[in-house]
Amino acid sequence: MNELFIKPELQYFKTCKEFADEFKPGKDDLVLTNQYIWEPFFGKLGLECRTVFQENFGKGEPTDEMFAAIYEAAGKGFKRVFGIGGGTVIDIAKVLALKDASDLGALYDRPELVLRDKGLVLLPTTCGTGSEVTNISIFALLKKNTKKGLTGKALFADYACLVPELLQTIPDYVFATSSIDAMVHAIESSLSPKATGTTKLFGYKALDMLLRGFKVISEKGMEARKPLMGDFLMASTYAGIAFGNAGCAAVHALSYPLGAAYHVAHGESNYAMFFGVMHSYLEIKSDGAIAELNKYMAGIIGCPPEKLYDCLEKILNSLIPRKPLREYGMKEADIDIFSDSVIANQQRLLANNFVALDKDRIKKIYRDMY
Ligand SMILES: NC(=O)c1ccc[n+]([C@@H]2O[C@H](COP(=O)([O-])OP(=O)(O)OC[C@H]3O[C@@H](n4cnc5c(N)ncnc54)[C@H](O)[C@@H]3O)[C@@H](O)[C@H]2O)c1
Ligand SMILES: [Fe+2]
Repeated sequence: MNELFIKPELQYFKTCKEFADEFKPGKDDLVLTNQYIWEPFFGKLGLECRTVFQENFGKGEPTDEMFAAIYEAAGKGFKRVFGIGGGTVIDIAKVLALKDASDLGALYDRPELVLRDKGLVLLPTTCGTGSEVTNISIFALLKKNTKKGLTGKALFADYACLVPELLQTIPDYVFATSSIDAMVHAIESSLSPKATGTTKLFGYKALDMLLRGFKVISEKGMEARKPLMGDFLMASTYAGIAFGNAGCAAVHALSYPLGAAYHVAHGESNYAMFFGVMHSYLEIKSDGAIAELNKYMAGIIGCPPEKLYDCLEKILNSLIPRKPLREYGMKEADIDIFSDSVIANQQRLLANNFVALDKDRIKKIYRDMY
């Protein structure tokens, strides 16, 4: 059984200048990023590399159509791909580094085509996805009306570089949704049947850093996060290492149809499903790994384990309010449609559930959160 696999070399730089001095992005390199991240942090460094700004190719998280347009604009002839951005930019950059990504749909259907022939260096600018250390890229597949992960060893970067300076400009909402995503990664991976002592080391440490930070924010306000951004960044990478090995599960699986159909940001759609899945797990089985995890999290928050999810909701609501699913536009008829989609498209994730959830249970979770 796999205990822990980490492919990218993990590097840490206090500033973008230190990073650029080491990696020397140049004219043979392609940088996928956002203009509002590139200009303030790299604009003055006089780098000659080619830049593509993701926001010029569509709003929101990656879709198959956005990818096709960026692939076209990126052209050919570069030796390394740098992805500098949130999960959206990083997930696209990973696929741009592949040998042939001219047909994204074919890569989903034929994993043997997921081969890389360019260098890949990833710098996260949010504190959530952990994508810099995972071998997954997630796209909304517009015709299927869901999101799906493309996986393969070739999607591991050569280098994941943590540069806390890059998070100085993160908007409050993006901070909130991405850090909640990191929390869900740490929790789902720690409850996964694939969790090992080593993946839990990363997942539990991530939770310690995230929950302590959330508590400070709930007591002192959003500004109080500023000195903690380095911790949040590190925690999201730890959670990425944990879920990159042990997997994510039902929270992610059930959030994908919502995210894809109603354009809800990944972290927010996870948050909308999170408590429903956790309460369902506890109804079915309240001992074992979930009891151990709940006790640990309650200890950090300082509340009795049986009140954990109520206390956690109060804390997280100071980052973003949790909304019922109908407030995102979901219709009652979607409960059946989404449940069918989860069963049809998300078996990779459902296999990592703490306890098995059948279709009736999935419907119940959607109904409970509706
Ligand atoms: N591959 C994986 O392992 C993995 C894991 C979890 C989530 N994801 C995917 O990641 C995506 C979500 O990524 P995300 O939560 O990081 O958000 P994001 O990348 O979609 O970014 C949200 C917004 O914030 C902006 N932004 C990001 N960093 C900024 C900064 N420092 N300053 C100013 N603006 C900034 C972005 O330009 C964007 O407009 C989803 O598509 C999700 O499915 C991937
Ligand atoms: Fe996620």
